[in-house]
Amino acid sequence: MRVTVIGAGHVGLVTAACLAHVGHDVVVDDDDASKLDLIREGRSWFFEPGLQELLGEVVRSGRLRIAGDKAEAVGHGTVIFICVGTPSRGDGSPNLAYVEAVAREVARSLPEGEFRLVCEKSTVPVQTGERVAQVIAREARPGADWEVASNPEFLREGSAVVDTLDPDRVVVGTASERGLAALRELYQPILERSGAPFLATDRATAELIKHASNAFLATKISFINSVARVCERSGADVELVARGMGLDPRIGVHFLKAGAGYGGSCFPKDVAAFAHRSRELGVDFGILNEVAKINHEARRAVVDKVRDALWHLDGKRVGMLGLSFKPNTDDLREAPSIDVARDLLADGARVVAYDPVAGDLAARQVPGLELADKAAEVADGAHALVLMTEWAEFSDLDPADLRSRMAYPILVDARNALDAEAFVAAGFTVAGVGRPVRAPADGSR
Ligand code: UDX
Repeated sequence: MRVTVIGAGHVGLVTAACLAHVGHDVVVDDDDASKLDLIREGRSWFFEPGLQELLGEVVRSGRLRIAGDKAEAVGHGTVIFICVGTPSRGDGSPNLAYVEAVAREVARSLPEGEFRLVCEKSTVPVQTGERVAQVIAREARPGADWEVASNPEFLREGSAVVDTLDPDRVVVGTASERGLAALRELYQPILERSGAPFLATDRATAELIKHASNAFLATKISFINSVARVCERSGADVELVARGMGLDPRIGVHFLKAGAGYGGSCFPKDVAAFAHRSRELGVDFGILNEVAKINHEARRAVVDKVRDALWHLDGKRVGMLGLSFKPNTDDLREAPSIDVARDLLADGARVVAYDPVAGDLAARQVPGLELADKAAEVADGAHALVLMTEWAEFSDLDPADLRSRMAYPILVDARNALDAEAFVAAGFTVAGVGRPVRAPADGSR
């Protein structure tokens, strides 16, 4: 099937590569020529496991190509995905100007008498599809044959390729049998190989499923982070509380990991956007404001733990392990590490960080942030270590080696990712999230 993807960001490029991989004929378009130049060579402009290999394969085979211009892009695909950014505005609402601009451009290039399904994949507030359809109706030439559909993505950064090829579910919101048939045909190869359920709804419902899903997952995280605060004050262990809760299948074990809170391009933006849209519709979805507030506090709590351990930060050196908002991505959008590093620096600390892929980008965003070449080197002369991102390689660090490099043996594990017992055995005082502070038995630390 012929497919066009407009917007070669995390969602668009992964979608394009995966649809080409399962046999479709895909054309990609983006306003940023430098991104397109890389893609033309079969290279991705961002880090995402498995994407590079997939892109190389589909570009070589000719199943993924770059459009010469919008007219060519719109002329190509029966299904045209809009995957452009919807950045947050100051009031929490997403900026949909790019979506509108693409809708207008698509409308002006629609061919006569050939069906085109214009499909929103960017995460948008409920009823955006209506607006997109309105724009196209105003701009399209007579005789153009089109429909607007919603097909939200549920891919996570770091496992976006797997999530796309082997999804939990495929949700499509269409206005007609013809639109539904087009999307069913498009996803057939993925449905066959994954056995994923295919949920067909109206457009508004599909749009809402996306916002409600992300807001609910964010709520789980903030819920467990509040439980963690109670654990810290009562001597309980949040890891075990979460396990005990999660064994109830109605609750489930996933997304109950206490830590420095959620970041990334989706949850913070989607929680704010869902709250904003609900307000516009006259619904006070107050829980979402609390979710965002608790998430903010989770970051502040990390800084408070460092202050608690070191008293004054002026002249102290803090080694930071991990910067990306989660492992296996170089994405720093809304990363808790950035706020924590800024706060520590503002209090007069030196912050030396290591991240396998996101270091240079972070240093450009946080003036004063220093980088180490290797993970263990952040410990050199440090008065405390702070783990912000649970990259797997940090589990291989030797606590005794880290201890020998440091001024004070203090670990703030903001993801409860390291083996606290092993660190305590090496002489560390360990402050995790939602668990008692652990220190060597002699109490001398
Ligand atoms: C998310 C959704 O999972 C995905 O379905 C959607 O399409 C896009 O948004 P992503 O932002 O890539 O994906 O990351 P995800 O793995 O969901 O994690 C989001 C954040 O929550 C990360 O900062 C992570 O560290 C944090 N998190 C996750 C927790 O703090 N605790 C948890 O239990 C789970």
